[in-house]
Amino acid sequence: MRLLLLPIFLAHCGVARAEPGKFWHISDLHLDPDYKVSEDPFQVCPSAGSQAVPNSGPWGDYLCDSPWVLINSSIHAMKEIEPKPDFILWTGDDTPHVPNERLGEEAVLDIVKRLTTLIREVFPDTKVYAALGNHDFHPKNQLPAGSNNIYNQVAELWRPWLSSESIALFKGGAFYTEMLPGPRRTGRIVVLNTNLYYSNNEQTANMADPGQQFQWLEDVLSNASRAGEMVYIIGHVPPGFFEKTRNKAWFREVFNEKYLKVIQKHHRVIAGQFFGHHHTDSFRMFYDDAGAPISAMFLTPGVTPWKTTLPGVVNGANNPGIRVFEYDRATLSLQDMVTYFVNLSQANEQGSVRWELEYRLTEAYGVPNASVSSMHAALGRIARDQGTLQRYYVYNSVSYDKRVCSEACRDEHVCAMREVAFDAYAACLRALGTAPTCSLPLLLAALFGLCALLARWPWALPNGSLGSPSSG
Ligand SMILES: *[C@@H]1O[C@H](CO)[C@@H](O)[C@H](O)[C@H]1NC(C)=O
Ligand SMILES: *[C@@H]1O[C@H](CO)[C@@H](O)[C@H](O)[C@H]1NC(C)=O
Ligand SMILES: *[C@@H]1O[C@H](CO)[C@@H](O)[C@H](O)[C@H]1NC(C)=O
Ligand SMILES: *[C@@H]1O[C@H](CO)[C@@H](O)[C@H](O)[C@H]1NC(C)=O
Ligand SMILES: *[C@@H]1O[C@H](CO)[C@@H](O)[C@H](O)[C@H]1NC(C)=O
Ligand SMILES: [Zn+2]
Ligand SMILES: [Zn+2]
Repeated sequence: MRLLLLPIFLAHCGVARAEPGKFWHISDLHLDPDYKVSEDPFQVCPSAGSQAVPNSGPWGDYLCDSPWVLINSSIHAMKEIEPKPDFILWTGDDTPHVPNERLGEEAVLDIVKRLTTLIREVFPDTKVYAALGNHDFHPKNQLPAGSNNIYNQVAELWRPWLSSESIALFKGGAFYTEMLPGPRRTGRIVVLNTNLYYSNNEQTANMADPGQQFQWLEDVLSNASRAGEMVYIIGHVPPGFFEKTRNKAWFREVFNEKYLKVIQKHHRVIAGQFFGHHHTDSFRMFYDDAGAPISAMFLTPGVTPWKTTLPGVVNGANNPGIRVFEYDRATLSLQDMVTYFVNLSQANEQGSVRWELEYRLTEAYGVPNASVSSMHAALGRIARDQGTLQRYYVYNSVSYDKRVCSEACRDEHVCAMREVAFDAYAACLRALGTAPTCSLPLLLAALFGLCALLARWPWALPNGSLGSPSSG
């Protein structure tokens, strides 16, 4: 009798009982409504700017933002791979990379609406926690700290996913918080509008706390701590540095510092951070003052394959990617992360699109789960072991760029992952690499030059002048 009661007792108290669940994270869909296959390389897509796009295919091109069919297939693939997620995270950037004059407020709202409708049609009963990206405004990047027509209209589009409190908050600053679905109601999501901290945003440049979002975030996290909740934080533009070049941060430095302080103060209730904007697959570690790992931020790849035009980035395109997290509903602890992708060149060659497993985090990095300590261990392996670094590097572009990640490349990626603070990032680069531009070709060229010089030396110099600085 007692034996029979024990499981019931345990179930009631929730002692050490994992409740496995799954959720999707997608980002940077960047629809280019005018994408079309064309013989004329200048007629394929406005998002390629003045670049020629030869041999365009039906599923998209690495120089262009997503055609509708690619986005449609990504959302349907989610439904096939994991049809019953607990919820979906959608971290923004819906519109194409084109000049402001080509879009306008109405076009931006129309694209947000098209994507919202598609996601709702495919996942009618699933909660979606959506954030605005820097491209989901007109003019782009200039998201204001207060209410405006775009926040109002988008709040209405997203009404089915939001509480009335969140709708009111969203209209005032495009951030909000909700309880995650589930019987216990101990999980909370915080959706931030970090576009307010973007250095390209002139609207918020001189504000101490745009939209009072930091104050609000502190209050939400303090409340969560008191209530015994655990929290996921999501947003579009991440703090820290872009790993595909050097010294490229997105936040203004004061905002970057403020964000870090919040994470350091409240990390005990933060079970994960999920961001986009990079279009690449990477992660960021947060440490306390004693150097202990306290939080991890996961950067999800884009659906758009668009090759970035950011100066200093070489061949910065990617294959389209989507990902599922496996987690514990009771504690929000992250068990694993599974990324799926389309080989875009193959899809165009074969005339059909296939979403396939790219990798599973625990298998790729030999860690037991996706916890903070596991991510810290994964980063250690990436930094130390060339094989793991190369594996990470290929995944970073969603299996698009298979070049060897040189020492300079390693330093850029490792320092970006390890150090979110401006000064610590700079110190990391100084410590790891003494020759910031030393690539393999450069090294070979230097060696070749030295050899030539050495070979020439005895003949070039007059006899007896070797070692005499005053001569010649
Ligand atoms: C969207 O994808 C679904 C599933 O593959 C397909 O049945 C449908 O025809 C697609 N629609 C468009 C407009 O591509
Ligand atoms: C924090 O909790 C207090 C008390 O329940 C509530 O009045 C306040 O609105 C909460 N703050 C936020 C930002 O949710
Ligand atoms: C993608 O397909 C191309 C052929 O179109 C092939 O060369 C390449 O190796 C494939 N990449 C991956 C990651 O499978
Ligand atoms: C995750 O793995 C770590 C080791 O990195 C282990 O200490 C921890 O107990 C695991 N957490 C869960 C929830 O499985
Ligand atoms: C060059 O120096 C060496 C020894 O230093 C000497 O043996 C040789 O004769 C010299 N050659 C000429 C051309 O001066
Ligand atoms: Zn983007
Ligand atoms: Zn962005």
